Amino acid sequence: MTATIESIEELRQEALAALQAADESGLEAWRAEWLGRQDGRVTLLLRSVRDQPQEQRAQFGAAANALKNTLEEAFQERQEALRQQQLQDLATSGAIDVTLPGRPQPHGRLHPVTQTQRDIIEVFGEMGFRVAEGPEVEWAKYNFDGVRIPEDHPARDMWDTIWVDKEIGGRRDMLLRTHTSPNQVRVMEHQAPPIRVVVPGKCYRQEATDATHEWMLTQVEGLAVDEGIRMSDLKGVLYEFARRMFGQDREITFHHSYFPFVEPGVEMAVDWPTAEGGTRWVEILGAGMVHPEVLENAGIDSSRYTGFAFGIGVERVAMLRWGIDDIRHFYHNDLRFLRQF
Ligand code: PHE
Repeated sequence: MTATIESIEELRQEALAALQAADESGLEAWRAEWLGRQDGRVTLLLRSVRDQPQEQRAQFGAAANALKNTLEEAFQERQEALRQQQLQDLATSGAIDVTLPGRPQPHGRLHPVTQTQRDIIEVFGEMGFRVAEGPEVEWAKYNFDGVRIPEDHPARDMWDTIWVDKEIGGRRDMLLRTHTSPNQVRVMEHQAPPIRVVVPGKCYRQEATDATHEWMLTQVEGLAVDEGIRMSDLKGVLYEFARRMFGQDREITFHHSYFPFVEPGVEMAVDWPTAEGGTRWVEILGAGMVHPEVLENAGIDSSRYTGFAFGIGVERVAMLRWGIDDIRHFYHNDLRFLRQF
């Protein structure tokens, strides 16, 4: 390439004009064309300094260097200007519109069974019951033996137990609690009468599921132990519970039932309107007077103290209050169902 001092000025104008015309995508090509290390036009120009006649060489070299510096600076400026322009465009083209309303955050809510469990606890809280909790993985000692269901007793068949597959001292003693009743013993071991306590929690039974049974269920256990507690106290408390939970004019009924840890034992049912316009009884809890042996097992003098206990099926209560026909809805996690509560 042969060039003269005059042509350097021409190059400058040409390069700057091309730079002004270049957009974001043309910028790199411009840099390669003019300032590329191998064969950029300014690089070649600098290399041609040695071809200049001796007396022009210094002046020519200085002019070529000045051009290189000018173009490098111009390139930086242009790059920055384009970047600023891009931000401006983003702001005005609406990609960032600060006036748009915020996106609504979806609100979570409590599961209907949790809501019902809390409402049940609140009703009993107003009647002077405190809340306790116990483990879901339980010992057979508490789940069965302490509540008068010894090994090989046919009553164990009432609860299709999910055992933890672990032998300790040759015995399989660990299970998923089949009911909240082991907490009767746990509470009495730690507290002397008077006792008024409710114990909510999940229980597990190895049952085939159908519209009214699940392999997991929620119970609220209740226990009251004091001097002079009678069956009428149990009925009074449960009547009051039903009225506060389901409304003043709901009917309830008790009928005899068998649980090894109470004597006598009852089940309580609430009337539920049917689709045909009638009503039918729906059992929502088991209850009874605490068996004297259960008191004694937990170190309480049964000649001085008596008590009552109950175990409420929380899903049953939830089904009743909202007219839900199938217990399995609760655990399908279908938002169309869950959003209704
Ligand atoms: N534990 C019993 C059950 O799960 C219910 C119950 C509790 C009955 C307390 C009587 C007293 O079926």
